Amino acid sequence: MHSVPVAGIRQLLVSGGSTMAAAEVARQMSEGARNLSLSGHVGFDSMPDQLVNKSVCQGFCFNILCVGETGLGKSTLMDTLFNTRFEGDPAAHNQPGVHIKSNNYELQESNVRLKLSIVNSVGFGDQINKEESYKSIVEFIDAQFEAYLQEELKIKRTLHNYHDSRIHVCLYFIAPTGHSLKSLDLVTMKKLDSKVNIIPIIAKADSISKNELQKFKIKIMSELVSNGVQIYQFPTDDETVAEINGTMNAHLPFAVVGSTEEIKIGNKMMKARQYPWGTVQVENESHCDFVKLREMLIRVNMEDLREQTHTRHYELYRRCKLEEMGFKDTDPDNKPFSLQETYEAKRNEFLGELQKKEEEMRQMFVMRVKEKESELKEAEKELHDKFDRLKKLHQDEKKKLEDKKKSLDDEINAFKQRKTAAELLQSQAQQSGSQQTLKREKERKNFF
Ligand code: GTP
Ligand code: MG
Repeated sequence: MHSVPVAGIRQLLVSGGSTMAAAEVARQMSEGARNLSLSGHVGFDSMPDQLVNKSVCQGFCFNILCVGETGLGKSTLMDTLFNTRFEGDPAAHNQPGVHIKSNNYELQESNVRLKLSIVNSVGFGDQINKEESYKSIVEFIDAQFEAYLQEELKIKRTLHNYHDSRIHVCLYFIAPTGHSLKSLDLVTMKKLDSKVNIIPIIAKADSISKNELQKFKIKIMSELVSNGVQIYQFPTDDETVAEINGTMNAHLPFAVVGSTEEIKIGNKMMKARQYPWGTVQVENESHCDFVKLREMLIRVNMEDLREQTHTRHYELYRRCKLEEMGFKDTDPDNKPFSLQETYEAKRNEFLGELQKKEEEMRQMFVMRVKEKESELKEAEKELHDKFDRLKKLHQDEKKKLEDKKKSLDDEINAFKQRKTAAELLQSQAQQSGSQQTLKREKERKNFF
């Protein structure tokens, strides 16, 4: 009897061949599944127990973000919630901006281990200009989503032992003013509501009267609705918790009181805050909503908060991020578009762009070369012209000099001729002079 579906699967795989997509095979498999009744105990009814055992072995993690102005009792409430003392030194509140401080703890209750992160927005609301107060909180939440996405996109993933730091819940502490929400609260919650499950709580609720508190709660809820702020709603789809969750949704925002101090009331030690006029019991539901918060946050909806973080907020972040990177599930005709196809399309687009860029660069290079060539030709022509001009100048100069030389030579020759003639005349004159002297000498001698 049990071999029938297996044979069916084998048949499908063979008939589908390698081209049949896995999703299509799975669809056909579930469509073709037959309902069979077993004739005896097989044992797969232990599946839930196996899951529980495995989860208990692995342990759980839960990350809480506390946002609220300085001194609203965030640390005290965390200590009260988990019945321990977490933080050491109080944070400094003279910083120019909001910074995020995350502390990790390992807690154990019976055999269940819980890795708890308490993240604090230190300095929130301390600045004069509070415009950017939400930024570092949003960036921190996104950074945790990004880290998870990067792990998920790795070839070799280790998600089973990955330390998940995504924020599962944001406890938003509202000051017990009794008036209305501050614009800082509205802006911050609006910026956070698509990224994290927000549970608004009225801090230090012992400082506000019962009637005022009711009015304040109504005012806060109407302001949240009118500003479109989505807060976390305790789920009502699971019928085991639908009733309690439905009732608790109507009590939001929870008005809480925190205290780690234990006071003896009757014959019992109780967490309380003692005042000269009386005592506020933290765990007394007629005094404040602390128990409601603890029940909803830890005992009933911890897993739903984890699930919502993964399936709603992280999914939204992942989708936006992948779409930003150019991935999509369908093509423009609304047909399924696989990751492989997206990759190929992106690759082709990139190669096309690369080729276009290459062609542009080539054309630019050719243009530049041509420009340089014509510049060089121009320069060459100019040089030639200059050379010709200089050559002509030189020739003219040379001709002038030659003419001058010729005229000088002529002058020299004429001078030489005149000189020779003068010398000839002079020698002739000398000759005739000496002949006359001889003649006179002879005449003188003859005379004597
Ligand atoms: P920072 O981390 O410095 O921003 O302060 P915080 O919000 O962690 O406040 P913290 O828990 O340090 O409490 C500040 C003061 O408020 C302490 O003196 C607490 O005792 C007191 N406090 C805490 N919770 C309550 C409360 O529910 N009601 C009243 N009246 N006082 C409280
Ligand atoms: Mg603190």
